[in-house]
Amino acid sequence: MKNQYITTAIPYVNGKPHVGHALDYLLADVYSRYKKEQGISVRFQAGTDEHGNKIFNKATAQGIPVEQYVEENANIFREFIAKLGVEPTDFIRTSDPEHERLVQLIWDKIKDHIYPSDYEGWYCSGCEGFITDKEYEENNGICPDHQTKYERLSEKNYYLRISNFKPQIKEAIENDRLKILPDFRKKEVLRLLEDSPDVSISRPRKNLSWGISVPHDEDQVMYVWIDALANYITVLGYPEKDISDYWPADVQFVGKDILRFHAIIWPSILLALGLELPKVILSHGHVLANGQKMSKSIGNVIDPIDILGKYGLDPFRYFFLRHIDTFADSDFTWEKFDAAYSGELANDLGNLVQRLAVLSQKDNVELSVESIERAKENAHKDAEYNQLMDEFKFSKAFDYVWTKIQQINKDINDLQPWSVAKTDLEKAKEILLDLDLRLIAIAELLSPFLPTTSKNILDTFGTEIVVPKPLFPKKA
Ligand code: MSP
Repeated sequence: MKNQYITTAIPYVNGKPHVGHALDYLLADVYSRYKKEQGISVRFQAGTDEHGNKIFNKATAQGIPVEQYVEENANIFREFIAKLGVEPTDFIRTSDPEHERLVQLIWDKIKDHIYPSDYEGWYCSGCEGFITDKEYEENNGICPDHQTKYERLSEKNYYLRISNFKPQIKEAIENDRLKILPDFRKKEVLRLLEDSPDVSISRPRKNLSWGISVPHDEDQVMYVWIDALANYITVLGYPEKDISDYWPADVQFVGKDILRFHAIIWPSILLALGLELPKVILSHGHVLANGQKMSKSIGNVIDPIDILGKYGLDPFRYFFLRHIDTFADSDFTWEKFDAAYSGELANDLGNLVQRLAVLSQKDNVELSVESIERAKENAHKDAEYNQLMDEFKFSKAFDYVWTKIQQINKDINDLQPWSVAKTDLEKAKEILLDLDLRLIAIAELLSPFLPTTSKNILDTFGTEIVVPKPLFPKKA
């Protein structure tokens, strides 16, 4: 099978990492680990989106040079990724001079599809940006953030001629050559594509200074999207390197709010470059807090570092990969998290491992290398699991593994090996051996989701069985 190339959205560095960012990383990490287990070579990109006025203004407000600000924040994101147990192969920063140089080459390559035009609209000098006519009406002509009147302004922008590519994009999406997941998002994108206008891809330098210069036009700077989207190929060295070992990407993970940029602008850029379209764009839902969108003004933003600090890594991965649906919006509350942690992870799995290890050790159950290997091999042939994983239904695949855990819990209670041992030790050992091997198979299936736990289980049920310390101690 071809090498896999997996990408994640690159977050803006104007704030600290939040749980939404974690979702992109975790989904990509699960798929990457799943593919690596099949012996496939995986390239997995992550990075940071560092240009634009918002970021520039944040740096200015803190009184530090923007270069220093973005570097510090990029490092925070790097550390965050490591804290999530996520292992990308590449980390790209859009303010990296190499990325900037390659993006300029890309711009030049697609210049036949770019044209200058005047943009006229309502502008807020406080926001340093245009707003839509609809927003103008909704706000009665006054910016709610700055309490100033919008001005009618006209400026030169370069535009990308999306209209040149619409029929090809439509055809690719309809036929799943560019597969948009989930299906209801595919329908949404097809509707959006119908009325999608050409998009503005630059700003006058006087309105946007922190960005990549448009080649051969001193007065214009690229607007963030062209610069940001290009990261997926500049990280591979395009256009100077042959990227055919990895491109087209096998799956690109993005949140629902940025799907349209990935399903309309990005394919247009790729077609203009003569590159193939990605195979899959997976759009995940949003994490809500108590049913509401998280926002600084409501004050309901959940800090992922808090969760990691209180519960540790695998409980975090457990909740976000099983209880946050892969495709739909899902709710985070501390109560739900705690219930999942104590009732399911610590109880269903943690206690099971402990219990089986104690019983198996007591009765001297012996596992052979061959039986362990066979259990692992068979686990990877589980058709239902593989199908769910291949269809990117990760939360469903995780549910499926959990039904197997519940089944072992039920069997151990029904079969009562501790009672059997009193009269027939050999029979008890046979029962325990079977349960141990089933748990080993489960550990294999869990490994993309909970890599540390999976390893702990496999270390516990080696040829010598050792009783582990509790698997999921709560930290604070
Ligand atoms: N910089 C752009 C992406 C450019 S990709 C070429 C951006 N950054 S972001 O920081 O706003 O968002 C990064 C990712 O986090 C996106 O996939 C976005 O959908 C995701 N999320 C942001 N908030 C989220 C939730 N509350 N829940 C789930 N994901 C969310 O957009």
